[in-house]
Amino acid sequence: MMYDDTRKTDVETLITVRDARLHYRVGGALSAMVGGGGTVKAVDGVSFTLKRGESVGLLGESGCGKTSMGRLLVKLEEATAGELLFDGADIGALEGDDLRKFRTRAQLIFQNPFDSFNPRYTIRQSMVEPLTNARIARDEWEDRIIAALELVRLPEPQQYLDRYPHQLSGGQLQRVVMARALILQPDFVVADEPVSMLDVSVRAGVLNVFRDVRDRLGLTAIYISHDLALVRYVCERTIVMYLGRIMEDGPTEAIVRDPLHPYTQALVAAVPVPDPGQSHEPLPIGRGAPDPRNPPSGCVFRDRCPKAFDRCASEVPQVQQVGDRRLACHLFDPT
Ligand SMILES: Nc1ncnc2c1ncn2[C@@H]1O[C@H](COP(=O)(O)OP(=O)(O)OP(=O)(O)O)[C@@H](O)[C@H]1O
Ligand SMILES: [Mg+2]
Repeated sequence: MMYDDTRKTDVETLITVRDARLHYRVGGALSAMVGGGGTVKAVDGVSFTLKRGESVGLLGESGCGKTSMGRLLVKLEEATAGELLFDGADIGALEGDDLRKFRTRAQLIFQNPFDSFNPRYTIRQSMVEPLTNARIARDEWEDRIIAALELVRLPEPQQYLDRYPHQLSGGQLQRVVMARALILQPDFVVADEPVSMLDVSVRAGVLNVFRDVRDRLGLTAIYISHDLALVRYVCERTIVMYLGRIMEDGPTEAIVRDPLHPYTQALVAAVPVPDPGQSHEPLPIGRGAPDPRNPPSGCVFRDRCPKAFDRCASEVPQVQQVGDRRLACHLFDPT
């Protein structure tokens, strides 16, 4: 029998992403006629590995591909190209029992708790859904639901079971969202802006629960946010994305104290302001990101980069190891 050596289960690594791409065709024939069609390279050649138990923040402005990357990792999207391995198995090729098993082991925590639940379902009915999908015996349901709600520190969980989503506060409901993601005891979770819809006053509580549960269960986690302060609170390592590509990847504290990529420098310089309606200063790099259907040649960040030079327009910078970071920037190219 042929044995594929690259698929051997690595004891340290849970997830390997190799040159992953997710390209969306946008617009139909009609919008193409008025110049509105094209391809959005939401994820465009991303590679990284995640160790078991590691927490990594995915950081970047709106539209840079964070959610797309997260959806690839839990197989809610199929990669256009590249390879994603989970515990040595190719996520793209999973089917049948293997796929069902993967769906219990890898979970997504959604951003908006009010979108995450069917408003006509009680909390109990919503919590039962993943249990039936995973074919858990009926006589275990109640205990599992109560245990999951206790895990996210909802006091007296019984009182929530027959309520509807609108009868819970945003913070309570986001804890239930987390409980539902954890009820099958996954090893990997992707949390996509899990507190961005919540009032600032309840964010810390929900984030603390997330950190606590993650540590107690030894979860491997991706925490998606456009907010560096939140990523810093939750993750030891941060991956900075821009227009579908990794710009910088390294220890969060090192990135905050000494950002190396000009894009990361702009994110770090955008300090929080007290106005609750606007949590950050605009980035000090002028205008928004370019049209994602038509990104600049070479480095996709170059038209906003204060340090761009000739080579940035002609050559795509590859991600390279530079000390404790991985960087895609010609300023740090050793050649
Ligand atoms: N289903 C889709 N069809 C077409 N284009 C899409 C689709 N989903 C996302 N996109 C596009 O892909 C790019 C990346 O989107 P994505 O949602 O991954 O970004 P994001 O970093 O999560 O942004 P945000 O911070 O706003 O949530 C964007 O240009 C977006 O418009
Ligand atoms: Mg998103």
